[in-house]
Amino acid sequence: MYLVFSTSLHPNSRSRVLANAAVQQMQELGQACELLDLAALDPLPPCNGHDCYGDPLVGQLSGKIAAASGILIATPVYNYDVAGSCKNLIELTGSAWNDKVIGLLCAAGGQGSYMAPMSLFNSLMLDFRCLILPKFVFALEGCFKDGQLKDENISGRIDELVKQLVRLGEFWKAD
Ligand SMILES: Cc1cc2nc3c(=O)[nH]c(=O)nc-3n(C[C@H](O)[C@H](O)[C@H](O)COP(=O)(O)O)c2cc1C
Repeated sequence: MYLVFSTSLHPNSRSRVLANAAVQQMQELGQACELLDLAALDPLPPCNGHDCYGDPLVGQLSGKIAAASGILIATPVYNYDVAGSCKNLIELTGSAWNDKVIGLLCAAGGQGSYMAPMSLFNSLMLDFRCLILPKFVFALEGCFKDGQLKDENISGRIDELVKQLVRLGEFWKAD
């Protein structure tokens, strides 16, 4: 089972459009895949390093993450980093991410924030020894129109990311 997290809490999120496109591509490849949209689930508690881990949804998500063959994370870029909602998810679920293959889909306001996911990648690599797909998706506002993805280059990059995730996910699982 593959997971796609949509971590934006915006009702008209552009990164959610990227997440949905990835889910569609996963289904076209015949892969079992679940979309987990943080805006549609019960709100997650803010990580306090203490009793937050007892939250039932945190336990449920940790179980799904630990069992996944590979995970895509769709996130907004906020303040030259991934959004706090994305970081909070990872803080809450911690070691469930151990040894996962991870791909990233970002919605951003400007090309200058292209390196925004690097600290997330570092943390996933160093804390949890994740395998990060280096060719991540980075889509600016002009790639979308009327709530839909309108950029063929970005669509192609999503397809490529999904294919890489499945290829490496299968290999990694078998190892
Ligand atoms: C609080 C805040 C901070 C932002 N900071 C950045 C930034 O540092 N770099 C950038 O390229 N875009 C920035 N943006 C623009 C968002 O990345 C952009 O609107 C994106 O589409 C948000 O993702 P979403 O539509 O999935 O919620 C920021 C937006 C907000 C609301």
